[in-house]
Amino acid sequence: MEPHSAPLPARRTFLSALVKMMLTLPVALSGAVALLILSPKRTEKKEPLFIPVLGEDELPKQGVKRIELSVNTGKEGQHTVTHRIFAVRNKGKLFILSSRCTHLGCLVEWSRSRKRFLCPCHGGTYDMEGIVAGGPPPRPLSRLPVAIRNGRVYVGIAV
Ligand code: FES
Repeated sequence: MEPHSAPLPARRTFLSALVKMMLTLPVALSGAVALLILSPKRTEKKEPLFIPVLGEDELPKQGVKRIELSVNTGKEGQHTVTHRIFAVRNKGKLFILSSRCTHLGCLVEWSRSRKRFLCPCHGGTYDMEGIVAGGPPPRPLSRLPVAIRNGRVYVGIAV
């Protein structure tokens, strides 16, 4: 009597199912990961919240003005977030810069004497327009949306 003669069809079926499962499992897992990464919640761009930050007459005529503001997020457990932004007027153009360094997110500070935004973390520098002037930052400082209504300056902050 041969030891493997009776259970062969059942074993083949089991092995075939096992091989199919091993081949389809990675495809199913990578599909699930792709769905998580591309889900609307992650790719959805939030509309900025426009916040009045100062009066139009408080804007700099030329140069940089640092502004600290507290934003109520309305989120549970995290009610107020402090933002540092810079109002800049240069050669007649007015814009608002984020203080968040584009390298790893440290907050930059304006140096009047060097006429540069300086990042304290890894030595990144930006010129008055927010353009990278040195160090590791890969991109300019972000310009925030700004609107002036009834003498008030509103800045769009992502919360
Ligand atoms: S975080 Fe600003 S240079 Fe690295």
